[in-house]
Amino acid sequence: MNFKNLFIKDINADEFIDDFYKMLSYEISSNNLMKEDFRLLLKCLENRNEIKKNNDFSKLRSSFISFLQTDSFKDIYKSFFLKLANSFKKEQLLFQIQPTPRLVGIDALATSFHCDKWYGHGTDTYTVWVPLHEVKNGSGVSFIFDKNLNEELHHDFLKETDHFASLNSLNSKCSNLAKEFAPKNKKARIFHSSVLHGSPHNSSGETRFSLDFRFSVNVKNIGSKNFSDFFYLDRNYSEKKIRPYVEWPLNFNFLKYVNGETGISTRSQHLLIEAFCEDLGLKITGQEAEIEDGNLSVLKHYLNKNNLKKSGFDGIIISSTNLLPNDLIKTSNSYILSAFERIII
Ligand SMILES: [Fe+2]
Repeated sequence: MNFKNLFIKDINADEFIDDFYKMLSYEISSNNLMKEDFRLLLKCLENRNEIKKNNDFSKLRSSFISFLQTDSFKDIYKSFFLKLANSFKKEQLLFQIQPTPRLVGIDALATSFHCDKWYGHGTDTYTVWVPLHEVKNGSGVSFIFDKNLNEELHHDFLKETDHFASLNSLNSKCSNLAKEFAPKNKKARIFHSSVLHGSPHNSSGETRFSLDFRFSVNVKNIGSKNFSDFFYLDRNYSEKKIRPYVEWPLNFNFLKYVNGETGISTRSQHLLIEAFCEDLGLKITGQEAEIEDGNLSVLKHYLNKNNLKKSGFDGIIISSTNLLPNDLIKTSNSYILSAFERIII
C-alpha cells in the first residue's frame, strides 16, 4: 500500500454552509412541491437535540436527499467545489455529481474505523466531509492524523489472517489513538482515501447532519466507482466547464426491455430501469418483455438497429448485462444502456 499521499487538510466551509441554509429557506418559500419536507429538514437541523433516540429517519433522509437534488443546492455545491479545486492546481479533476447526505442519531454508530480505499475509492481519491452545523464533542469523526501511525496500523491490520479479529483489534486501537474532529466554526475536512477514520458512537446528545463527497486528481482512476457518477472539470476552472464525465443521450426515445427468464423478478428489473432513467433524465417511450421460450426472440429483434428505428426507438435499456448473453449484446449494432452497471454498451 502506498502511503506517500496521506493527506489531511481542514478548510473553511462557512460560505457553503451559510448558502446551504439560505437555499433551504429559499426552497421552503418557493412553490417547490417538496417544501413541507424541506421545512421538516430545516426544523430538525435547528433542533438537533430534540430528535428522539431511535427515531425513524426515513422521511428525514428522503427530504435531505431531495434537497440535494434541487438546482439551488447543485449551484452552491458546484461553486464550493470550484473554490476547492483551485487550491489543488491540477489540470483535470473528477468530482462526485451528488454528495452523500448523512444523519447520525443520538447514541448511534455511524461507521467503524476504515479507510475509504477499502470501499473501492481510488488511490488518487480524496474525501471532503462537511458537517452542516457546529459539531458537539462526541459526534465528530475521529482520524488517525499521524502518517507513521496510519501506516503502522494498516500493516498490523493487513498481516493478520483472521480478518474479523484484526478488524476488532484495529477498531479498539483506533478508538484510543484517533483524534476527534468536531468543528465549531464551519470547517470541513479533506482527506486521502488511505487515511484511517471512524465515527464510532454519537454520545453528544444530538443528531449529526453532514454531507460528504469525493474527488479524484487522476481522471483515469476512481477505483471501482462508476465514472457516470462524476463531473469532469478541465483546467482554468469555471462553472461553464463543469460537465458530467459521461454524456447521456437525453433526447433519445428508449425502449425498456425486461426478461423474466433470467430468474430475476421482472418487477425489480422495471424498478431498476425506471429509477436509473429518472435519476439521469432519460426518456422511456415504450416497453417490451421477453417471450419466455429460451430463444430471446424479442431481444434479438431489437438488437438490430433497423428494427429498433422502425419501432420509433433510438436505444434500448436493459436492467443488467449480467442477465443476458454477453456475445449477443456486444455484437449488436443498437444503442444499449444497462441500468445496473450504469454503462453505455
Ligand atoms: Fe469513510
